[in-house]
Amino acid sequence: MSEEFRIIGKSLPRFDGPVKVAGEVKFLEDIEIPGCWLGGVVRSEVPRGVVRKIETLPAFAETGAVLVTAEDIPGENYVAIVRSDYPALAAPAVNYATQAVALVAAPDAESLKRAMAAVVVEIEPLPPIFTVEESAARKELIWGEDNCIDHYHTERGDLRKGFAEADVVVEGEWETGLQEQMYLETQGMAAWRAGDGIELLGSLQCPFYVVNAVAAALGLPHEKVTVRQSATGGAFGGKEDYPSILGVYAALLAWKSGKKVKIVYDRSEDLLVSPKRHPSKSRYRMGLTKDGKITALDAEIKLDAGAYTTLTRVVLQRTHLHAAGCYYVPNVRVRSSAWATNTPPNGAFRGFGAPQAIFAIERTMDLAAERLEMDPLDIRLLNTIKTGDLFPYGQVLREGNNAEGVLLKAAELSDYRRRREILSQQSEGRFRKGIGISLALHGGGFTGAGEANMGTTAKMTFDGKRFRIYTSSTEMGQGASTVLPMVAAEALGVELEDVLYVEPDTKYTPNTGPTVASRTTMYAGKAVQDACENLKKAIENGGAPLSGKALVEAAKRYLEKEGRAEALGYNIFTDGQSWDEEKFAGDAYHGYAWIANAVEVELDMDTYEATPLSAAVAAEVGRAINPMQAKAQLTGGVLQAFGWAHIEDLKTDAKGRYTAAHMNAYLVPTTLDTPEWKVELLEDPCPAGCYGAKGLGELPCDAGAAAFVAAIDHAAQIFSHCAPMTGERIFEAIEKRDNGGE
Ligand code: MOS
Repeated sequence: MSEEFRIIGKSLPRFDGPVKVAGEVKFLEDIEIPGCWLGGVVRSEVPRGVVRKIETLPAFAETGAVLVTAEDIPGENYVAIVRSDYPALAAPAVNYATQAVALVAAPDAESLKRAMAAVVVEIEPLPPIFTVEESAARKELIWGEDNCIDHYHTERGDLRKGFAEADVVVEGEWETGLQEQMYLETQGMAAWRAGDGIELLGSLQCPFYVVNAVAAALGLPHEKVTVRQSATGGAFGGKEDYPSILGVYAALLAWKSGKKVKIVYDRSEDLLVSPKRHPSKSRYRMGLTKDGKITALDAEIKLDAGAYTTLTRVVLQRTHLHAAGCYYVPNVRVRSSAWATNTPPNGAFRGFGAPQAIFAIERTMDLAAERLEMDPLDIRLLNTIKTGDLFPYGQVLREGNNAEGVLLKAAELSDYRRRREILSQQSEGRFRKGIGISLALHGGGFTGAGEANMGTTAKMTFDGKRFRIYTSSTEMGQGASTVLPMVAAEALGVELEDVLYVEPDTKYTPNTGPTVASRTTMYAGKAVQDACENLKKAIENGGAPLSGKALVEAAKRYLEKEGRAEALGYNIFTDGQSWDEEKFAGDAYHGYAWIANAVEVELDMDTYEATPLSAAVAAEVGRAINPMQAKAQLTGGVLQAFGWAHIEDLKTDAKGRYTAAHMNAYLVPTTLDTPEWKVELLEDPCPAGCYGAKGLGELPCDAGAAAFVAAIDHAAQIFSHCAPMTGERIFEAIEKRDNGGE
């Protein structure tokens, strides 16, 4: 706990915890909205085609239901996200199976079911493409002029010279799979007309994203669209873009029917249609001296975008910028691209493109270690990026040598060297253990000039009793409603009970930006801090600094005199960073957080089930505003990465649909799959972040998979190239090795 602060640095339990644990919180599904109709989505059964006819059978009219097709859309037929390529309703082109073709609202569940069954859609099929290879080969043209959603290119130093200087060159192809966020509460939105505008209530991360999308689809000015967040049962990125889509559906139905309309997906529909982590395929070629120093890296990464852009451009940017991981590479080329396929659009998942890149670079480091007969820890320590070194995209690392710091700490926590040596001796028996280590960094906040351009704004008011925090930063289980009050109480110099976090409502809250990109504590927090300082100054009115009860009393007098007490606050950067969007180079992030994981896994050689026994997590997070919550964020995220590494295996069928429509067909780690944790926080305060905080929300998803797979490899004496390394894949790799394949 820090000496400098009264509240920052305290391990306080989450303020929203007790009501959630007691089951007292009402999620959208639980909220009784009088007179509310239910909405449903009529979906394409073919992966690619042209809608020829949408008709209703006589039974439809009997239900009293309302049908919405593309022709009923008053505004533009697209869901405004990064681009406007994603139609709200397919018309006439269909580009993935399960794509929305029409919408139905009905007074109750039974009539909705009958009405949905009475909608007949005829789609003339066209040949689909399902793989990045087919897409890049333009086997069919399904998106734009070349199927390429976006691509980036970075070169620094002299690649030819770098490889010429190398004593060894290693080359690997890496592959990562889809991943489902599996938030506890499924997606849900409700909408109703209000005057000449519309109001929405739902489970979401980014209130103003939904405002933008609904305004475009209904052809309304933004101020006619009000979005409120209902209690949100987890998101992990999965409620970054999808609530815009579902919000548009609910709004279109409410607009045409004049009714209140609610859509809450059941788990099956949620799994089948919501965005997943982008699958990746990459090829890394690395040159090293014989003592293990990297001389060159040539990296190429391809993401599978699915049928439309949604967030792919920004996900790909993060993949691209994290491609070399935590290492200094003097001569480097990175090429990244994202390709359209006839599958549901992939989107945001905690890590946002970084985990795919980190998996590739970390596995490449393991491959290099194996080739050079070095320990994976040593080769990493030798190459970590240090203060003053350049990232491939031209940013100079200004902070401390935190990559090295977290690696050494994780090694110490796990007793890595001794365990690696002991476990390298065992070769017999049904249960074998292995230990793997990995390293990652995560740039906090939006990429490039995104944060500087965002205008992150918070508002503080005094309501006669308490100071109220108005932001668009949502609580989704990650702790925003605990951390932001801590920041406000610290900045004002009052007690926690003197401040109140207000649930986001776009009618009253300023735009603090979206609740994404590990930016809430770091940057929304900074705007809250600024608003507090501004309000405090106004109340003090040039007099002596006030705090505690004295400030509360002064605020009461101020409110009485002025009629209102409020102040805005902003996140303004003073670190002189610059970014060139054209060249896609410069200072990509204002602060990096760092993590190292060392995990010990037990592998059952009969079933090929891999169980993490213990996991060391060392993370440098700038400043831990609430260390207990920070640690909980870390262990939760690392566990998600472990799931992605071994058991979360999502496939698509012959129509490009996900094969898992139930939780029994898609396994995620539970408490029974949770290792013993050894977690330690390191703090190198970041001048750009709130009280020195860096973003840590996504960081824990970045490195875990590489460490877990490395541990499997160590136990089974194989070398794996993909995640998830399912039992089947471990079996195949062992077979291949024993039959002389590798
Ligand atoms: Mo996030 S994965 O930036 O919601």
